[in-house]
Amino acid sequence: DPLWLVVPAAGQGRRMEANRPKQYLTLLGRPLLAHTLERLHSAFPNARLVLCLDDDDHWFAEKWVPFADWQRVTGGEERMDSVFNALTAIDAGDNDLVLVHDVARPCVTREDLLALYQAVQHHAAGALLAMPVADTMKRASPAGASLHSEPRDALWHALTPQGFRYGQLYRAINDARNRHTLVTDEASAVEALGDAPQLVSGRRDNLKVTHPDDLALAAAILTSQRD
Ligand code: C5P
Repeated sequence: DPLWLVVPAAGQGRRMEANRPKQYLTLLGRPLLAHTLERLHSAFPNARLVLCLDDDDHWFAEKWVPFADWQRVTGGEERMDSVFNALTAIDAGDNDLVLVHDVARPCVTREDLLALYQAVQHHAAGALLAMPVADTMKRASPAGASLHSEPRDALWHALTPQGFRYGQLYRAINDARNRHTLVTDEASAVEALGDAPQLVSGRRDNLKVTHPDDLALAAAILTSQRD
């Protein structure tokens, strides 16, 4: 089956408080985006890449794309709109596999990528990298008081990539957009249609670079993974 990789990279990354979108911040001498694409390419060298970018993004350079087969699509208002634009732009079959991966997760390992891919092939509802919650989870009042602890044994952090069959993912995101419900990952859209994607336990260091401190942390993780 053909494999498609969708990388939403059209966010502003405002929480980063930087002078440029976070995917272009320098990590070990190269932009974050270049690291993320290289990791994806190491696991899936023959995949077809769809990169969602802002139309007025003047930071992007094609030299950072290691894939032979790739295209650029215009990002949307929200992450889900960017992914929808990607799904609309490609000529995929209903059963083609689509993996969606945040550009902001440069530390994902080849092993985790391949494990996720395996799971997507074997679970009709799709699969996502995830990790069990380690901290005690609190339910807060609007005023910020701790009301009670939530049982954490069934709680997971949703990471990316998340992978699905093209037709299933297209329907799920199309539905979410029509309902005007904001979904923050692909699995949420798929779950809303009654499917239950498989959680694939991934590494704890698959960090999403979000806040200023995360850049140094991501550099340390990438360095440690090379040793
Ligand atoms: O802002 P956040 O880190 O949650 O964004 C997750 C991913 O979605 C990032 O890779 C970001 O570039 C992307 N995104 C997008 N289009 C948007 C918003 C976010 O492609 N409108």
